[in-house]
Formats: sequence, C-alpha cells, structure tokens
Amino acid sequence: MGSIDTQVHNAFRTAVVPAAGMGTRFLPATKTVPKELLPVVDTPGIELVASEAAESGASKLVIVTAPGKDGVVSHFVEDLVLESRLEESGKSHLLEKVRRAPNLLDVESVVQERPLGLGHAVGCAEQALADDEDAIAVLLPDDLVQPCGILDLMARVRAERGGSVLCAIDVPKSLVGSYGIFHVEEVQGVAEPDVLKVLGMVEKPTLADAPSTLAAAGRYLLDRAVFDALRRIEPGAGGEFQLTDAIALLIDEGHPVHVVVHRGTRHDLGNPGGYLRAAVDSALDSPDYGPGLRRWLLERLELEETVD
Ligand code: UTP
Repeated sequence: MGSIDTQVHNAFRTAVVPAAGMGTRFLPATKTVPKELLPVVDTPGIELVASEAAESGASKLVIVTAPGKDGVVSHFVEDLVLESRLEESGKSHLLEKVRRAPNLLDVESVVQERPLGLGHAVGCAEQALADDEDAIAVLLPDDLVQPCGILDLMARVRAERGGSVLCAIDVPKSLVGSYGIFHVEEVQGVAEPDVLKVLGMVEKPTLADAPSTLAAAGRYLLDRAVFDALRRIEPGAGGEFQLTDAIALLIDEGHPVHVVVHRGTRHDLGNPGGYLRAAVDSALDSPDYGPGLRRWLLERLELEETVD
C-alpha cells in the first residue's frame, strides 16, 4: 500500500459505462438513435461521461452495449476522412471537437445480449478487466453530474475507508418517491459532513418510509467484490438483476460502503424533461449559444406571463 495520494491516483483504471438499456422513455427517438448519442448542446452524453472518467484518471472505458447499438462505440473511433476534410477546409475548431472523443482514453465494448438490468450489465464488464484491477468506476451515461470531480472525492474515501463508494444527491422531500434513497449514518472521525456510511437503500420509498433525502446518482466506485455479489443475487423488480441488490448483499456481509454527497447539479438525460433541462443549462453557459438563448428565453417567458 502506498500513500493515500498514490492510492487515490490509482483507485481505478477502468470506467464502465452501461449503455445497453432500451431507452424506452425516449421513444420514438431511441428507435434508431441510442440515447447515449443524443447531444447536450453539441456533445453526446456518452462523450461527457467519458471525459469525466478520463479526468478522474481512468485509462480505459468499457462500454456495455446492446446488439445493434454499435454507433455508441463508433463515436470513439477516429474518422480520418472527416478529419482530413475539416483540415483542408480550415475548420480547426470543428476538427478539435471531432478528435476529442477518440483521444480521451482506450475504449472497449462488451455486449449485453439481453437487457437483464443494470446489475447484469455491470457484470458483463468483468471480462474486460485485468487480473490486478481491484476496483472499477461505473458511470451511468444518463446522469450528468457537474461540475466533474466527484469520482476524485470518492477515490479518496475508498483510499481512507476501503470498500465501495457511491454518489448521492440531496433531493427535495417531494421527490424521494422517484429515487433509490440511502439509509446512512455519520462516520466517526470524518471531518467532511458529506461523507456518510451506507447502512442500506430503499427503492422509491414514500416520504414516511424514506430514511433520508439522499438519492443515488449514477456514479459508483466499486470494489471488485461486486462481481461475486452480482453472481449471487436473484432477479429483482421487473425480472432485472439490480446493482443495488448486489451492493445490499455486500453491506450485509460487512463490506464497507460509503456515500459522498454531490453538491453540484445533476440532470437525468434518460427522459425528455431532464434532457431538456440539461441542454438548456449547458447552453446558457456556452459563449456561443448562451447570450442568444437567454434573450430568447426571457422574451418567450415574458410573453407567456402576458398571456397568463
Ligand atoms: P435505465 O433503466 O435508466 O435505462 O438504466 P433504460 O433501461 O435504457 O431506460 P428506459 O427505462 O428504457 O427508458 C440505467 C443505465 O443502465 C443501462 C442503461 O443503458 C442506462 O445507461 N442498462 C440498463 C443496461 O446497460 N442494461 C440493462 O439491462 C439496463
């Protein structure tokens, strides 16, 4: 074992991005376009999570895809014809954008033949790991968690506390019924109030049954023991193998699981409402589109108020 800083830096090499879901909430678009390729302003969601993983030190991205969703992986393959056309026509800013994804990190894919759940999808990634990798990061491409950097905090907690580390966001009470909610307790001797020990999780509880207002956000730093736990769980809700059931099994067996509360923003790109908010939020911050969009939104909203 090296120093904490070395352990944080080496916390994981592989980031797993499960992208084999059916995307039914986004039909009809997802009939032919994988939802992971829908752009937030001009960049597909999957590139945003790949770039977050690379910034946190991952050198390999394992994308779990479904048969027929090859376009998701193609986004990370160099397109030399397109690049030379952009170069010849002097469109260097576009060239830079096109080159970004293939240069982020090494990308591999594994196929999940049938959508048997997030837990099953994560299990499919085990074959892509080297023997000496003792942890993986899992990033759900549906979840846009900004600003980036939560994985670094999670890596620090794993280096200090061992086990697995999850990410939570504090949601309004009215929304607890839409999420998996953590049952947590304070950690003795930890100065950061945003690091808590996880005792369990309740899926979509009523407000009366909710053990906290901390909801699971799509970032996980999982000890390799999760693969063994995934092999031992039974299918849960909807006949799917749930990642949370494998984590619950680990907790029952004494594996330390902590949560870091993310205090930035989080958007759910998996449904049109959340996706639109993410797009507007990012566009407002863009020097190219922000000022015009802001003016238009103000006009549009003012008009609405006048009509009301
Ligand atoms: P979701 O349940 O949010 O995605 O899974 P989905 O199944 O595509 O969504 P809907 O309900 O049909 O609209 C969270 C993440 O897990 C992946 C999804 O691709 C998504 O990134 N997933 C889910 C898999 O890779 N395999 C599965 O069997 C299920």
